[in-house]
Amino acid sequence: MQKRKLGKSNLEVSTIGLGCMGMSYSYGPPKEKQEMIALIRAAVERGVTFFDTAEAYGPYINEELVGEALAPFRGQVVIATKFGWKIDLKAERGLAGLDSRPEHIKEVAEGSLKRLRVDAIDLYYQHRVDPEVPIEDVAGAVKDLIQQGKVKHFGLSEAAAKTIRRAHAVQPISAVQSEYSLWHRDPEKEVLPTCEELGIGFVPYSPLGKGFLTGKIGENAKFDSSDFRSILPRFTSEALKANQALIHLLSSIAERKKAPLAQIALAWLLAQKPWIVPIPGTTKLDRLEENIGAVAVELTPDDLRDIESASSKITIQGARYPEQIERMTNR
Ligand SMILES: NC(=O)c1ccc[n+]([C@@H]2O[C@H](COP(=O)([O-])OP(=O)(O)OC[C@H]3O[C@@H](n4cnc5c(N)ncnc54)[C@H](OP(=O)(O)O)[C@@H]3O)[C@@H](O)[C@H]2O)c1
Repeated sequence: MQKRKLGKSNLEVSTIGLGCMGMSYSYGPPKEKQEMIALIRAAVERGVTFFDTAEAYGPYINEELVGEALAPFRGQVVIATKFGWKIDLKAERGLAGLDSRPEHIKEVAEGSLKRLRVDAIDLYYQHRVDPEVPIEDVAGAVKDLIQQGKVKHFGLSEAAAKTIRRAHAVQPISAVQSEYSLWHRDPEKEVLPTCEELGIGFVPYSPLGKGFLTGKIGENAKFDSSDFRSILPRFTSEALKANQALIHLLSSIAERKKAPLAQIALAWLLAQKPWIVPIPGTTKLDRLEENIGAVAVELTPDDLRDIESASSKITIQGARYPEQIERMTNR
């Protein structure tokens, strides 16, 4: 597998990483642990060196899974995790609001280190910007952890450009992780130009549109209450139906390139900037192989122009998140 550097940091990772969240959280009940351990190890065998988790996923059990699966590969892989929630196992989804107070960050870092079974967290992202805590204080707390050797790189998730700048001035940021794909292009406005200017890598999450951009989620798809997509406006039947226009576009390119839709969606992200590293999530080996196969799909300038002109005529229906969740982003 080819590698990419996350911006001007010296953090080098496989061109495509593996998002591990769905193995334990968000998309239905946790999957069978031994199967997921085998899947994560199969990813390592295939050259994936970048794994994404968070304290909040489970909560906790996804970090435990990733820690156990990657224990034999210490030093050969990069594990990214995230802090910033007040965890309460009795609360909905285990999350009772944000908490990025410096003392809290330092406390929860110890838990992540234990669950991940590492001496240092390779990449530690703030999961969501906490409006109660100045970002300089958050960056300062992570700086302290870096000085203590407990963290190697700092990141932010779903932060606004001005916040990225302020944090970067205190502790250089290696990567920003935010949603980015053909059906959510907001980062192009300010965040990507800021990352480019400051030499920060960008990690698109939900790069397959939470599964939609693979073409495998039809307009009649139903999600039960254990699946987060059941509350997302973009996954109602009406929105799924209206947004099939994007699937038709991806299908036409997929036919031309003789590649599956998932690979076109990922290859499009890879073609945007050489410091972009998507982290598609899957719980299935054949899909993992399909997704990492996207590194071999090269979209030509003509392909990219066709995607641009066709997608500019498509208006995506349905918000990506309900309002109270969207409010936590871009600040
Ligand atoms: N920072 C944040 O706030 C944030 C938010 C969300 C996610 N993330 C991270 O980003 C990672 C990826 O995002 P995501 O899981 O939300 O969305 P995603 O990668 O866009 O899509 C995952 C979904 O697509 C399906 N899928 C994957 N590959 C496929 C293929 N080749 N063909 C058909 N279906 C396929 C998966 O189902 P199967 O499992 O059945 O294959 C799963 O339902 C997460 O694991 C997590 O680590 C971060």
